[in-house]
Amino acid sequence: MPSVKNTNPTIIVIFGGTGDLANRKLIPAFYNLYLDGWMPEKFALIGLGRTKLHDSDYAAHLFDGLTKFSRKGKPDAEKWEQFAKSVNYFVSDINDLESYKALAAKMDSIDKQWGIRAERLFYLSVSPQFIETATVNIKKSKLADHPKTDRIIIEKPFGHNKETAIALNKLLSKTFEEQQIYRIDHYLGKETVQNILAFRFANTLFEPLWNRNYIDYVQITVAEEVGVEERGGYYEGAGALRDMIQNHLLQILCMVAMEPPVSFDAEEIRNRKVDVLRAIRRIRPEEVHRYAVRGQYDAGWVQGKKVQAYRDEPQVDANSNTETFAAIKFYLDNWRWQDVPFYLRTGKRMQEKISSITIQFRPVPHSTFSKTQEDSLMANRLTINIQPSMDIRLRFMSKKQGLEMNLNPSEMIFDYDDCSTQTPEAYETLLQDAMHGDTTLFMRSDQVVEAWDVITPILEAWESRDSLDFPNYAAGTWGPESAEALIARQGHVWSLNAHTTQKKHKQ
Ligand code: BG6
Repeated sequence: MPSVKNTNPTIIVIFGGTGDLANRKLIPAFYNLYLDGWMPEKFALIGLGRTKLHDSDYAAHLFDGLTKFSRKGKPDAEKWEQFAKSVNYFVSDINDLESYKALAAKMDSIDKQWGIRAERLFYLSVSPQFIETATVNIKKSKLADHPKTDRIIIEKPFGHNKETAIALNKLLSKTFEEQQIYRIDHYLGKETVQNILAFRFANTLFEPLWNRNYIDYVQITVAEEVGVEERGGYYEGAGALRDMIQNHLLQILCMVAMEPPVSFDAEEIRNRKVDVLRAIRRIRPEEVHRYAVRGQYDAGWVQGKKVQAYRDEPQVDANSNTETFAAIKFYLDNWRWQDVPFYLRTGKRMQEKISSITIQFRPVPHSTFSKTQEDSLMANRLTINIQPSMDIRLRFMSKKQGLEMNLNPSEMIFDYDDCSTQTPEAYETLLQDAMHGDTTLFMRSDQVVEAWDVITPILEAWESRDSLDFPNYAAGTWGPESAEALIARQGHVWSLNAHTTQKKHKQ
């Protein structure tokens, strides 16, 4: 989260330069950073891939991607041409050391031309099985031997379970120092997720209430309308728990539950977050069914369109036991949060795309009002909508206008739509931070391992016992009934933000 741009010459190398992520997210992010004046004056972007392509063909491919996926739409021809001068394509084989040597020569020649050893940023946008080869070869060819200025970004999934994550950390530590490793979780780059820190720690108003004395429960929902799309092969080996809970949802939980950091220093913030992960009560294997619910979507209707069941998706086993929905009740064993349930849920093919945090406050301790008025009393609720609507809503009770004392819920709203500046994409923030050497919004090795540790009992229980009721929710719904039951035991319901739904439908 730097407030000044990095002006040092930088060479960015994207492994998987012709891949989907580069096309949809990375190049649009770099291009928008360029337009907004955040790129260093001297930069080179090298896309690596196996296919033989001319620089101009590669640039044309990227231009198409930008036109489709950039938040700013089709690039202005002149500006794109300027940007494209810094874009190179380099044919390379990730398994072949010779390719790395050739890349090293290319990077050295750029350094020579600029008269300075540039900073180097390597983005590994490749399948996990290639990470080992890539890092070993980077080391052998001495591509990243300046620990202060050379960095590597690793995409998720970071490991397949706790053991493989530890092994991957160990492997990376042979080539890189921890401060060089940027484990990306794109949710941390989302404007609304970052704003949780500003909201909590730049105001005096909320922090005194932010604890078990005033908060009844917390809900974090990340619901998607899409199914697994073309990623059935990957998803079969992942499932909702690995794909979303282990990283995105647990990271949001950390932002909500962490203690106030002493400073905005990256290590300080990451320490406070890892404290939260450590405090999460580990679920005993025999109790998993009481704390966690899994689901898999059946055929159904999403946005008026008939969609197929998960088991009928391409590259998915017809008897798949993979969950496309997960809901979990966590408790944190510490002074601030003892006995406050944190409900996390995520799913594909749900009724609505919405990522939202609900902080439900306790009911008033004593009602001053008559029985009839009391019935309309609703406890205060703070809703932080992360996407697609981006707003913060505080529900409070007020007097209904009129001659009598009747009560009415009202809302105070901070809506990002009312702000004039455009919101940067998560990848813009994260890539800018990585170029600047700021690790605050990236996962440290211990965070990743703790997060795996938190979900391990659930993973193991679900892997050892097939679910007998899959598929158990129709596409286009809010998931299986058991997810309602999970929180109904405490007298709670999943709060669906009516305002968000209305607002979305108005657009
Ligand atoms: C990715 C998951 O990390 O996040 C995907 O692998 C998921 O399965 C995606 O669809 C959701 O991200 P966003 O930013 O669209 O909410």
